[in-house]
Amino acid sequence: MEMPRPKPSNLLLSNILVRLFSFGVLVLLARLAYVITVKGRSCESLDFCFFPQSIKSNIATSTTITSAAAVVAAANISAVPSARLKTYYSSIFLDLIAQGFLSLNSKSLCIGGITGEEIIALKEIGVFNSARISLKKSSRPFIRFKNQTFGFVFTSTAGLDEAAKPVEFALEVYRILKRGGFFVVHTESANDGYSFASLLQLFDSFTMIKSSEVDGFDSSSPLIHEIIFKKENGVFRFNENEQFLNGDSVSKCSVPSYKRKLIKNAEPLIREEPLKPWITFKRNIKNVKYLPSMVDISFRNQYRYVAVGAKSYGLSIGSWFKRRYPKQDKPFEIYAIEANSTFHDEYRFKKGVTLLPYAAWIRNETLFFEIKREASLTNGKRVRGTGRNQAVQSSSNFVNVFNKIQGFDFAAWLKSVVKERDYVVVKMDVEGTEFHLVPRLIETGAICLIDEMFLECHYNRWQRCCPEKRSPKYSNTYAQCLELYSSLRENGVLVHQWW
Ligand SMILES: *[C@@H]1O[C@H](CO)[C@@H](O)[C@H](O)[C@H]1NC(C)=O
Ligand SMILES: *[C@@H]1O[C@H](CO)[C@@H](O)[C@H](O)[C@H]1NC(C)=O
Ligand SMILES: *[C@@H]1O[C@H](CO)[C@@H](O)[C@H](O)[C@H]1NC(C)=O
Ligand SMILES: *[C@@H]1O[C@H](CO)[C@@H](O)[C@H](O)[C@H]1NC(C)=O
Repeated sequence: MEMPRPKPSNLLLSNILVRLFSFGVLVLLARLAYVITVKGRSCESLDFCFFPQSIKSNIATSTTITSAAAVVAAANISAVPSARLKTYYSSIFLDLIAQGFLSLNSKSLCIGGITGEEIIALKEIGVFNSARISLKKSSRPFIRFKNQTFGFVFTSTAGLDEAAKPVEFALEVYRILKRGGFFVVHTESANDGYSFASLLQLFDSFTMIKSSEVDGFDSSSPLIHEIIFKKENGVFRFNENEQFLNGDSVSKCSVPSYKRKLIKNAEPLIREEPLKPWITFKRNIKNVKYLPSMVDISFRNQYRYVAVGAKSYGLSIGSWFKRRYPKQDKPFEIYAIEANSTFHDEYRFKKGVTLLPYAAWIRNETLFFEIKREASLTNGKRVRGTGRNQAVQSSSNFVNVFNKIQGFDFAAWLKSVVKERDYVVVKMDVEGTEFHLVPRLIETGAICLIDEMFLECHYNRWQRCCPEKRSPKYSNTYAQCLELYSSLRENGVLVHQWW
């Protein structure tokens, strides 16, 4: 038999009563816990906690915020935000005390803004042994602290979120924190899976204890992620997950679920071979969902753009990457890989661009190719399709300065230059060699290093000039191109069909 449901109005009333009651209880408990902790006995040392673990910081403070604000407002209007911020942080720290992450005798450090409401709050609630730094005031703010100085480190959103070098930040916090100490992060980022994973990777020498959302300091500020880490005994994992990339042994990179979700949300691949590819692909560029338009790319180590088969500076860098790619104001290091010496001069004086005057290939070797000539010079084999980059074993008979280029092992190079914490964008336009390069990237695990890729796939496409005729330049089919794109997406690379 079904139970009769309470009428909505009853429900509402009882809800309100329950809330009022629990609010009252919480305020009482907060007082009590405060009195107890101020007397020097933290939650940590008690058998039980006066605060329930789930207490939301805003509940305990909403009344005090208004009254404190009113008092301050009467005295000095400009000081209001500061007073409210202080109250806000008091409630944050009380909450952390209640949960056992902070105690009154913890030696504590606040990393935050210029004004330092955090540490005033910390001292007011009785954590006297505390210091603070602001990243804005010094380029190496941590340097004055010895190893294992603090039992508690807190970074407000003016800390980590604004750190120019998050990896250095993470290493320094690890260094100055005592074993068994806690590190509490407040961040406005980490709202998407990519950003959250980047943050966890940044602090992978710590153990994550808890991740939750707390309110910002007023209704107009965004929600804040509070993530609590602990420094365990003797664990230092930094770079551990990069080891599989070094040396020859490789495992397939695992593709986390947030990446699968991202790729699912990307523009779909064009399944049908387009009859007018020159129109279809151009149009498709408007649909492209750039990675930085979907996720927050902060918390990466370095930002890199690699143009493989870069051709002219303007084509791949100046008028595209610099102008159109959404970079979230990050400084990118740029690499241009281009074997054709015609283009080398224009790279000479470009700041921040490294030219690699080679052809991207699957190993270091000299390559021979034909220039618009049918019968090739390459061992009597007819070379079609790949256009260039056809390796020859016995080369001595065919040396010809005009059709010889130096190929280099692109996958090995990528692994030697890029770290897993880096953000890497690759644009590839290599006249058919992609059918060699991509499988090699996957096989070596170098593919795991690439976040986003713009790939021109070369196939025997329908020609503009002459309907019903396919391009004789390339032998691969559209289906093979699709396979290439799909394999990249399966391997966790957000790849776009590029033109
Ligand atoms: C209000 O406080 C700020 C800083 O606390 C101070 O600079 C300012 O002079 C004060 N204004 C008045 C009117 O007292
Ligand atoms: C401090 O820690 C860093 C790395 O965490 C280490 O390289 C250094 O040797 C330590 N210094 C001392 C004095 O123990
Ligand atoms: C280099 O590029 C120029 C300009 O696109 C082209 O005319 C030339 O054939 C290329 N040279 C080689 C060796 O591919
Ligand atoms: C291949 O060439 C690159 C670039 O010149 C070089 O850095 C690398 O050491 C070479 N690798 C091997 C195995 O020779």
